[in-house]
Amino acid sequence: MNEDTVQTIIADLAEKGWCVLPDFMDPATVADLRTECLARHAAGGFHRAGVGAGRAEVVSEIRSDVILWLEPEDTHPAIRRYLAATEALRQRVNQEFFLGLNELESHFAVYSTGAGYKKHLDRFREDDRRALTAIVYLNDRWTEADGGQLRLWVEPSGEGESIDIQPTGGTLVTFLSELYWHEVQPAMRQRLALTGWFKRR
Ligand code: OGA
Ligand code: MN
Repeated sequence: MNEDTVQTIIADLAEKGWCVLPDFMDPATVADLRTECLARHAAGGFHRAGVGAGRAEVVSEIRSDVILWLEPEDTHPAIRRYLAATEALRQRVNQEFFLGLNELESHFAVYSTGAGYKKHLDRFREDDRRALTAIVYLNDRWTEADGGQLRLWVEPSGEGESIDIQPTGGTLVTFLSELYWHEVQPAMRQRLALTGWFKRR
């Protein structure tokens, strides 16, 4: 992660509370992450995603993706690069905003054709420790017709203006987890993401 990238994220978070950054991850790392995500998916490691506190999730109709949690000790080289990049981001965000972020929980997510995730906030009643959401997309050549856009309401009210973000490989989307409403439009083809939450103490 270079200094320009960090500065863009910090400035956007300070001004708006959210940031969309194309090319956050280099294409080779994105391709390796995509391959590994699909390999683990094919190996049967994923489960229906739920809603709730981290690993104590309850399956719900508001989302229809399948997920696989990452372990912080994962030794896969591309996953180590992802963890190093998010760790660098965590430290810089802490220095700038005193958010006290002290850990990342992250998972691969696979949306099959037709899957989506209805409008929600990432902070749950049982767990108010999620402070900052960071999503990195792993998709090759996504087009508008593929659906699966992330719709993000730009005001914390969750009403009014929203933007639609293409889940293009390498793009990072980050926002304050308790403030910004968002939803995943139904995907017209398989849609891959690596989603993380920085949690505070
Ligand atoms: C989530 C989520 C959005 C996306 O996993 O909580 O909102 O674009 N994901 O994958
Ligand atoms: Mn979410």
